[in-house]
Amino acid sequence: MRLLLSLRELLNRSSFQKIRLPVILFALTVLLLGSVAVYQVIGDRIHVRGTIISLFLKQPDQIHLAWDGNSANSINLRWHTRRIYTPSVVGYRQLGESEWKMAVGHQNFSGSNGARHEVELRNLLANSTYEYRLKGDRLQGFWSDTFELRTSPPIGESDFDAIYFADTGLIGRRDGLGTGVEKIIEAIAAQHPLLTLAGGDYAYYNTDKRYGSLEASIDVWLNQMAPVFTRSVVMPTYGNHETQLQENMTPWANRFAIPDNALNRGNYSFDVGNAHFVSVFAVFEQQGLEPQALDWIRQDILAAQAAGQTWIIPFMHVSAFAEGASHPSNLALRSQLGPLFESLGVKLVLSSHDQAFERTYPLVDVPEKNRPTSQSKTCYTMEDGVTWLKTSPSGKESNKSGSFSIFKADPSPWVAVRDNTMHVFTKLHFSAENLAVETFGVRGDGQPPVVLDSFEYTQNQCAA
Ligand SMILES: [Fe+2]
Repeated sequence: MRLLLSLRELLNRSSFQKIRLPVILFALTVLLLGSVAVYQVIGDRIHVRGTIISLFLKQPDQIHLAWDGNSANSINLRWHTRRIYTPSVVGYRQLGESEWKMAVGHQNFSGSNGARHEVELRNLLANSTYEYRLKGDRLQGFWSDTFELRTSPPIGESDFDAIYFADTGLIGRRDGLGTGVEKIIEAIAAQHPLLTLAGGDYAYYNTDKRYGSLEASIDVWLNQMAPVFTRSVVMPTYGNHETQLQENMTPWANRFAIPDNALNRGNYSFDVGNAHFVSVFAVFEQQGLEPQALDWIRQDILAAQAAGQTWIIPFMHVSAFAEGASHPSNLALRSQLGPLFESLGVKLVLSSHDQAFERTYPLVDVPEKNRPTSQSKTCYTMEDGVTWLKTSPSGKESNKSGSFSIFKADPSPWVAVRDNTMHVFTKLHFSAENLAVETFGVRGDGQPPVVLDSFEYTQNQCAA
């Protein structure tokens, strides 16, 4: 009561009357927004340049991990804070240790509202789990929740999982096509892979404008992926949506750390254990790759094999083998990559774009004959050809069909398994002598994931 009386006295003082309106407006702004922002007027538009006062604590968000160096002993962390003056600081310790170590990084670009931070953790132990936490807004003592990250096995060793997913969309699309987004994220997080390969077509900004800008939509996408990206490394390749259709690649590429061996930010590669992953920048419906890109891919794979890497895994967005009506095969891509990958001994190619699951038998003589080297659906050897696996969608159904992609009635003879009734993602397990490949189907209605397809390549012989 005394406080209310004092407030009333203050409001009634003549000296306060002159500034009463601005003070009340300021207080209302703070109460409504929880912050006061810095604005810059450019032309006829007002740009928010940063938040200088945050009343309410906000966790760092958009957290994601990447390997832009040696995957066994370093890791790149990126995140966003609402306040632009929050320092880029990570606390980390090996699981079981009591003392936190600190690593200091920098802000890497402005993007949309707030600050984007980057820290490189180095000199980590291979095949190890670390706890980490990020410096949060406002109070120097405020830290984010604690998360766990893992380093990879040493180069040449094995025993780890990678999951490829693509064509996600944002949760809660108004057109109702995002029927699997939440459950796919849950299912991938439950697998807790060491690595995720993001296969493109993430936010579908041209058909989902709820967040007002592409930058804001990317922020939302990164946050919806938090159950996966705070614990598993993400290495992206881009799709037709990140490069066309009212989007452009720059804001996406600005957010992801990739190795410095990249060609045009879309083709790049990295090693994990005994595997070598190659992002192939394939984003056009019918157009093939530039000669420069083909040459880069060839040289990159030859170098990885010369260094002793066993499994070469190209991953991309557009599919060379696809029999759905929404986005059928890119035949130019097929005629380029078929002979190249066969000659290099590649065994598995991952792609998406056409919203249904399809995978071939191991093929040789692509594109002329597309001849299967085996009729088995479960086991292949290093003598077999290349399996082309299309995993799509991981959340969002097709705008073209209003559903999953519609198959032609009879599959071509090289199709081993196909399904267009569920959302999907594909898990690769690398062990000393085998590569096991499992594709999971997710209906999106709460039913548990089912295994749609399972096969392996072995360096030994398949059981009779
Ligand atoms: Fe696509």
